[in-house]
Amino acid sequence: MWGGRFAAGPSAIMREINASIPFDKALWRQDIAASQAHVAMLGACGIIAPKDAAAITAGLDQIAADYAAHGVPEDWDFEDIHMTTEARLAELIGPVAGRLHTARSRNDQVATDFRLWVRDAIDQMDSGLAALQQALVIRAEEHAGSIMPGFTHLQTAQPVTLGHHLMAYYEMFRRDRSRLHDARARLNESPLGSAALAGTGFPIDREMTAAALGFDRPTANSLDAVSDRDFALEYLFACSATALHLSRLAEELILWASQPFGFIRLPDSLSTGSSIMPQKKNPDAAELVRGHSGRVIGSLTSLMITMKGLPLAYSKDMQDDKPPVFEASSLMGLSIAAMTGMIAGSTFHTARMRAAAELGYATATDLADWLVREAGIPFREAHHITGAAVKLAESKGAALDALELAELQAIDPRIDARVFAALSVDASVAARASYGGTAATQVLDQVARARAALGMDT
Ligand code: ARG
Repeated sequence: MWGGRFAAGPSAIMREINASIPFDKALWRQDIAASQAHVAMLGACGIIAPKDAAAITAGLDQIAADYAAHGVPEDWDFEDIHMTTEARLAELIGPVAGRLHTARSRNDQVATDFRLWVRDAIDQMDSGLAALQQALVIRAEEHAGSIMPGFTHLQTAQPVTLGHHLMAYYEMFRRDRSRLHDARARLNESPLGSAALAGTGFPIDREMTAAALGFDRPTANSLDAVSDRDFALEYLFACSATALHLSRLAEELILWASQPFGFIRLPDSLSTGSSIMPQKKNPDAAELVRGHSGRVIGSLTSLMITMKGLPLAYSKDMQDDKPPVFEASSLMGLSIAAMTGMIAGSTFHTARMRAAAELGYATATDLADWLVREAGIPFREAHHITGAAVKLAESKGAALDALELAELQAIDPRIDARVFAALSVDASVAARASYGGTAATQVLDQVARARAALGMDT
């Protein structure tokens, strides 16, 4: 392709280090689509003859059919997907194939292909996350009133509902999807026609190729267009933020599935056994979701470091942009699917969750709030009185609502029998009906808003 000025061919090492075909063959659909848009534009603008444009179009159709049927051939002599396809086109239609590369360069070609690929990856991840959100909403609705301990510092804090806990993740994935939508909107400009770096002297129509490829507009500056990989970085950041959320959820599932917690039973289909300990059922899928987040975050770091010192415009370092993006994308697809299966298929041991909430003095705040509300005691003093009640209950190995009225009154005479209504986990949860709170009524409101947002009711 560029042998004109060279006396000798590349060494074996050069061929190997230079080859991106082993991974960038994943871009073949985008590469053919961009070439089809380009050749149609060259023909329409009179830059190449209509019959040449027609021959190239037919040749590209043929190549696409071959790739779809047999895969993309991997020959290091043809470095990358662009050269592989061009060489194949020349085999099929002869020297006229060489007219396809008029008014473009591999630099704008790869930038275009890669944007198209990332755009598809964004759309796929978005629908995967929508399915995960639906699974969360369904389980949250089912468990809007199921009581469990809410934790801070992983210490029992206040009783919450399982539905509330699950809807917290719905919110994280809602923000993750909105990040994807933002990234998509910024990504959706066409670099095609920027050529090597400076634009082209041919009378091309960039609006036409942009529209044909579903871009909103052509990029505004050719130097920027061939140098920019922000779209890939933003995608990797969106992946990383989502992977982090998935990892936190995975960690909770792992804890909840452990025997001391015993809150859930993960589906057999997403667990494994031990080859030596027959009783074991291991949460491997959840552990791998947690583990994969490290690799996804690593892919963002990898590409940021690749890009950070590069002068304008294209440098070959940028060929290394694709492996981290491809890896992150496949890890995200698997992680989201595995998490969706775990949320949809887990059994929640609600009696056990409720018992754990009852054990941990989770309603201590309710006692303090009652003292403020019913006895007019300042909150700091109420906090102190409640601390004494917890200390007494702990020394007796009893729950707060198992203390005798006389015992409570010995701590503070302003306490009366009405207090017991506030000390149950049910009363505690029902009381927290502020907007966004944990009461079942609020969870069902959150669920209703989510169902509407996801179009689940239509
Ligand atoms: N294989 C290259 C890549 O993926 C294509 C662009 C090559 N451009 C160049 N000027 N060598 O980045």
